[in-house]
This record gives sequence, C-alpha cells and structure tokens, in this order.
Amino acid sequence: MHQTNDMADSRGAAMPADNVDNGLYGQDILSVNQFDRKLLEYILDVGDEMRALVRRFGKANLLEGKILANLFYEPSTRTSSSFQAAMLRLGGRVIAINEVKYSSVTKGESLPDTIRTLESYCDVIVIRHPETGSAQTAGKAARIPVINAGDGAGEHPTQALLDLYTIADELKRLDGLKVAMVGDLKYGRTVHSLTRLLRNFEAEFAFVSPEQLRMPDYILDELKADNHTYAEYEDVHEVISDVDVLYVTRVQRERFPDPDDYERVKDFYVIDPELMAKAKQDMTVMHPLPRVYEIDTRVDDDPRAAYFRQMENGMYMRMALLAAVLGKA
Ligand code: NCD
Repeated sequence: MHQTNDMADSRGAAMPADNVDNGLYGQDILSVNQFDRKLLEYILDVGDEMRALVRRFGKANLLEGKILANLFYEPSTRTSSSFQAAMLRLGGRVIAINEVKYSSVTKGESLPDTIRTLESYCDVIVIRHPETGSAQTAGKAARIPVINAGDGAGEHPTQALLDLYTIADELKRLDGLKVAMVGDLKYGRTVHSLTRLLRNFEAEFAFVSPEQLRMPDYILDELKADNHTYAEYEDVHEVISDVDVLYVTRVQRERFPDPDDYERVKDFYVIDPELMAKAKQDMTVMHPLPRVYEIDTRVDDDPRAAYFRQMENGMYMRMALLAAVLGKA
C-alpha cells in the first residue's frame, strides 16, 4: 500500500460507513516500528475480542466478501495456516499460494508483477519471502494492504504482536519485565521484531547466544538510543533464575552459508527440566516454533511452558490484524 490514510478503496470508491479509521485501516504491516504503545494497546484489545468471539461462536461474518492472498515463498505451518484460519473464521476467503513452484514465479515473474496480479483479485496480501526487504518491495508495488509474514532474517511483525499478546496474557503485565532471548539472535527474525516491539515498554534484555549468532548491532543500537538496558551472554545458566520471559529460538539452519557452521552451534542450548528448576515460578517460556533440539519435550507439561498457547494466540492476533487493515475492527 503506497498511499497512507487513504479513505478510498483501491478503485477510488468511497468506503462504506462501517469502516473504522483505527490507525491500521488500509495500511501495510511491514515492521513493528510502525506501532506505538497506543496502537499496541488497541490491537491487543481487538485480539481479546477475537478470542472471545472464537470461543463463543467459532466464527463471524465481519470479512464476508473479502479475499486474502496468502503468498508463501518459504515453508510455514503456523503462520500460513493461522492466517488462513483467521480469514475463514471472519467469513472471508483465501487464495493460498504455498507452492510458488507451481506459480509464474518459476517462469521468472518478478515480485512486483506477482503482487500486481494478486491485488487485482484480492483485498489483502500476506507474504513470506526469504529476502530481507521483500515485504517492503511488495508493499510498494501494491495498492492494497500487504502484511509481512517474515522477510528473510529481517522482521516477523505479526509474530511479535502475538508474542506480545502472549506475554500480556501469561504475566498480566508488559512493563518492568526481564526478557531473555536465547538461541539464534543473528538470523532469527522473530527476536528482531520482538526486541524492537518491546522498546515501547519498560523492559530489560538478556541476549543469550553463541558468539557467532549475536543480536545484530542495528538492533542493539536502537536499544542504546532509547536507554534500554541489555546484556549479552553465552551461558543461559547465568540468567535463568532472574528472567520473567525466556524466549527460545531455533537455530535457523536455512540461513547459514556454510552447513558446518550450523552443525557446530545447532544444539548449543537445550532447555530442560533441570534448567527450569532454577527459574522463577511466575515466569513464562515462549518459542515461536518449530522447535528442533532447543526445548526438551519434558518441559511441555510445565505450566510455565506457554509455546502452545502462544501458537493458538497467533490466530486471534491475525484475526485482529486482518479486521483492522480492512477497516472492520
Ligand atoms: C518462525 C519464523 O518463520 O521465523 N516461525 C514462525 O513463524 N512461527 C521461527 C522459525 O522458523 O524458527
């Protein structure tokens, strides 16, 4: 979407009166940096409403007649199916392009041309792509809202929003938290987005990673610029007893130029019941999933293990975001 605050639809027609100018209406969602605290509080509230709606009725017809194009150039289980389920539960429909190899992309079609095609059939586009910045490119090409569902090692804003919703739901607060992020902080787009998003709150960060997988400097510089406290560690034992949120990530094998480098770090961290015994009682363990080696399945029954609830919350937050960008929240 290259026009902002446009109160007309892409063909210039006036919007029906029930479209709400909520700050997200007609907008792309490309980076968490476009959210301020007020907008976050609003979208978390809409997420709550969506959860209540699903639990009570299972569905609504808020987005009846609307079509989502779900364009995935990279593998996905949760993000792709939760966006689809979100659209279907709100009465909309979905064109799912998961196998780009069967689309004209394999004939050499450019991303802007693919986007121009989809926007002539749909009302909103969700895109996941291996290149950082690709969602921005798609957003520029489209007149309809584009939602970034992960652009390479860049950002994953909708994941960060569902992570925020989960923290609020599990811990009942968003300020004064000590947040440890563990694992692949270099290539992990979820931790990039979540760190940036938490700058809207009072948070203290512990970044735990092997030296090769440290949090990128551009994110650390942003934290310094607004006086957020952070420290970097290699050993998770140094922080475990102190944290409110333990956010664990998978080592992103697909982003390693050299497979041997991946082998060296792939099982650097394993969160197990012995480690959890050292953690506070009122803390939460999160993971964007999929997990590979990094959380022992014996942790799953620990009441502090929130990752499956977190995954469920993804659908509520994506319902909220779709409704918001389409002016129905
Ligand atoms: C994450 C992603 O794709 O960045 N998955 C997800 O969307 N839940 C994390 C990952 O793949 O490790």
